[in-house]
Amino acid sequence: MIQIIPCKDRYEELVQFAVRLNSDGVHHVGFFGEGDADVRASLEECVIPTAEGFLLAYDGDTLVGVFGVDADQEVDRAWLYGPLVEHADWHPLADELYRQVQALIPAGIHSFDLFCDEQNVRLDEFAARHGFPLHSANAVMTLARGDYNPAAKRATKVIPFEEGFFADFERLHNAVFPGTYFTARQIVEKLGETHQLLLAVEGERLLGYHYGKFDPAAESGYVDFIGTDESARGRGIGADLLAAGIDWMLSAPTTQKVSLTVNANNRIARGLYEKFGFVTERVMRGYRKKVE
Ligand SMILES: CC(C)(COP(=O)(O)OP(=O)(O)OC[C@H]1O[C@@H](n2cnc3c(N)ncnc32)[C@H](O)[C@@H]1OP(=O)(O)O)[C@@H](O)C(=O)NCCC(=O)NCCS
Repeated sequence: MIQIIPCKDRYEELVQFAVRLNSDGVHHVGFFGEGDADVRASLEECVIPTAEGFLLAYDGDTLVGVFGVDADQEVDRAWLYGPLVEHADWHPLADELYRQVQALIPAGIHSFDLFCDEQNVRLDEFAARHGFPLHSANAVMTLARGDYNPAAKRATKVIPFEEGFFADFERLHNAVFPGTYFTARQIVEKLGETHQLLLAVEGERLLGYHYGKFDPAAESGYVDFIGTDESARGRGIGADLLAAGIDWMLSAPTTQKVSLTVNANNRIARGLYEKFGFVTERVMRGYRKKVE
């Protein structure tokens, strides 16, 4: 007999289940991250508290499924964390979890994302059944501290964010990553000891930016965004920004690796990352359903 209940105070069970299943490509879904510290950090960043946004499915006393949602009305998007299912009736259970999780999505959201490892064939079938078209293929790339090769000329002036550049930063961010998961203002509001925005500048002109973060508990850094002005590409600015961003993340002695997610077809960016020592760990599929 399957019982589906809100996560409430069963956070530890949720974490352990997600960490275990997400370590296997056949089950792996996006947004959670990988490993205990990563999963906790991802869940803690959710706008909707995990206690309310996640459902757990039990077969007797055994946890057999997890499905959660996070959403941000400002960017008009919901991120579906799952389904993570370990049960012979994978599809019926995933469908029932999905049916119930939809009730937790705030009103006014028109765009819904699912994200999984390309080996997660059942999620591909689930996405097709529920009308989520394939939206993107992404490579998750990781750089181990010892493999870092800063292949940069360091000829660009790179400075920490200054408010006077905000309007130019917002314009560039929207041009390079239209409709992405953080607005320019949301990025700037997150800045602090562990979240940094670097700008490549030439006089008053903004040529590019790098937004990254590190998490001492997860012992890792993450490059969220790197972009340069189209008119300034191929001059080494991207490489200089990446080197400055990674130097900063590795300046925290806890940082053992730096990760990022990039469109699998973005050959230019992947080539740049590989020169720095990044290797592709997973290829992920993103599905996006849009409703009026
Ligand atoms: C990826 C990006 C940041 C690189 O910025 P850039 O300022 O052009 O970077 P660089 O000049 O340092 O070039 C880095 C490498 O990219 C490659 N490259 C740059 N422009 C290229 C082009 N037009 N054609 C082919 N390769 C190119 C080169 O391999 C170059 O290395 P090299 O020194 O061996 O020539 C930039 O292309 C960009 O903003 N793209 C859109 C956003 C994006 O895709 N971001 C990454 C995903 S998060």
